[in-house]
Amino acid sequence: MKDFLSIIDCPVDFLKELLDMSTALKALYRTGGRDLCLAGRTLAMLFEKPSLRTRISFQVAMTDLGGSPIYVKPEDIGGLGKREPIKDMARVLSRYVDGIMARTFEHKAVMDLAEFATVPVINALTDWSHPCQAMADVLTIREHCGRIEAVNLAFVGDGNNVARSLAFAAARLGMKMVVACPAGYELDEETIRRANQISPDCVRQTAEPSDAVADADIIYTDTWVSMGQENEKAKRLADFEGFQVDMKMLEAAPAGVKVMHCLPAYRGFEISDQVAESPNSIMFDQAENRLHFQRALLKKLLS
Ligand code: CP
Ligand code: NVA
Repeated sequence: MKDFLSIIDCPVDFLKELLDMSTALKALYRTGGRDLCLAGRTLAMLFEKPSLRTRISFQVAMTDLGGSPIYVKPEDIGGLGKREPIKDMARVLSRYVDGIMARTFEHKAVMDLAEFATVPVINALTDWSHPCQAMADVLTIREHCGRIEAVNLAFVGDGNNVARSLAFAAARLGMKMVVACPAGYELDEETIRRANQISPDCVRQTAEPSDAVADADIIYTDTWVSMGQENEKAKRLADFEGFQVDMKMLEAAPAGVKVMHCLPAYRGFEISDQVAESPNSIMFDQAENRLHFQRALLKKLLS
């Protein structure tokens, strides 16, 4: 594997190895150890959208491993694919750095980077997917549930980039996922078909949150308005009524259900403040695991 663009492209053994490496590196760094496997290496980090977790955790992970991250805002380089074609950027960057990570609007932008770069390219979120998030989530699920296989994951909200990456993770790693979305916001048929082709019946959709959460080990939600959809905000807030993860929804789920959110959370919309602050919420463990997973990913792809 040269690049990390989508979980669906990755063999199961590669994903499991990344999870085990994440656990090992997490333990190592927690006990004061260091692994300077990326000494002298550099990572270019290209961002078309805002980021707290992804930016800082990649920057820390790269530094932790002895390497140097270089953060690049779109305006620094005249926009991605605007001042010069992405295929030229990819070839130029490959002459300078040992890896490229990019957060873009169009998924095609990271695919083009990967096609023309001779160094690894990492998807740090596109409109289509967020694989680093989903892998950190699986790590979190394994820590809290003691297993990944046959974990029941209920995703309540928008059938978006995060939902899609979780569906591919479910297919590859043996979880069962039910996606509850309002009409018009479902996960696309192609994603469901590809996931179920890998692992039959691993993903199903419903329009009823109570149906999705009835057997859930985990309830997962994400914003109703993803980056780039700000002009649809008013319509989306109206269309998602009844899909908030609130205490009533938790009561419809098995006792002890865990609640996950990739963050940033818009409290009072997709999740209530009470649920976000409840003992069921594991969203900060989840956020922390972004760092541990990405250390493993950088070590695997760049060292
Ligand atoms: N979850 C996540 O990717 O957060 P940021 O947008 O802050 O990076
Ligand atoms: N679906 C959200 C995830 C943010 C981490 C977005 O794309 O904005």
